[in-house]
Amino acid sequence: MVKLIPSILSADFFDLGHAVKELQKGGADGIHVDVMDGHFVPNISMGPMVVKSIKSHINMFMDVHLMIDNPDEYIDAFSKAGADSITVHAEVLRHPLRTIDIIKRNGLKAAIALNPATPLSVLDYIMDAADMILLMTVNPGFGGQQFIPSMLDKIADLKRIKDNRGFNFDIQIDGGITMDNVHAVMAAGANVIVTGSAILNQPDIAEAAADFKYNMLRGAMA
Ligand code: DX5
Ligand code: ZN
Repeated sequence: MVKLIPSILSADFFDLGHAVKELQKGGADGIHVDVMDGHFVPNISMGPMVVKSIKSHINMFMDVHLMIDNPDEYIDAFSKAGADSITVHAEVLRHPLRTIDIIKRNGLKAAIALNPATPLSVLDYIMDAADMILLMTVNPGFGGQQFIPSMLDKIADLKRIKDNRGFNFDIQIDGGITMDNVHAVMAAGANVIVTGSAILNQPDIAEAAADFKYNMLRGAMA
């Protein structure tokens, strides 16, 4: 099953509610919330209050991507705010299996993210515990960056490992995904697609999301 989870990082925050409603209308399978602390990445974005206010108005799957140094300290807050899935970066985890366990004990899906330069080998003994692996296809911190082409091999390598070892975690990709490269990342093995600027920067967000999803599903059937 291929899913489209747009990132609201590129939304106009003055009109965030409108953007989320449009994404829902366009058939998005969830909302990707990029949380940045100004330490792990050189940018500051949003926190649990944003998740809470979206969730209190619109019941969509909330996929929270924590680009922060100390994720363990915030799992509870995001869980209470209405997150359905929490992604933490392998680069900051001292005890990854403990963190995954805490997320799951809150009743949420647990995902591990890797920066582009982080090797897949860090996942060797933890990937079986994750519901999803997020491969960053840009250096995290900003929307609207260019997809890093060498990430196609990384996605394919992860898909091969997943199949060989018989795991069923989702493979999510995030950063620089457009109508033009989405088929290539899906062919490499990604099944949960995050995209921000390609949809949110369009004048008609619902139509852009619907077009993007149609294009993805067409690729999945080809
Ligand atoms: C990058 C974020 C992404 C990104 C997606 O740090 O994790 O979610 O903003 O936006 P685009 O699709 O514009 O790269
Ligand atoms: Zn993200």
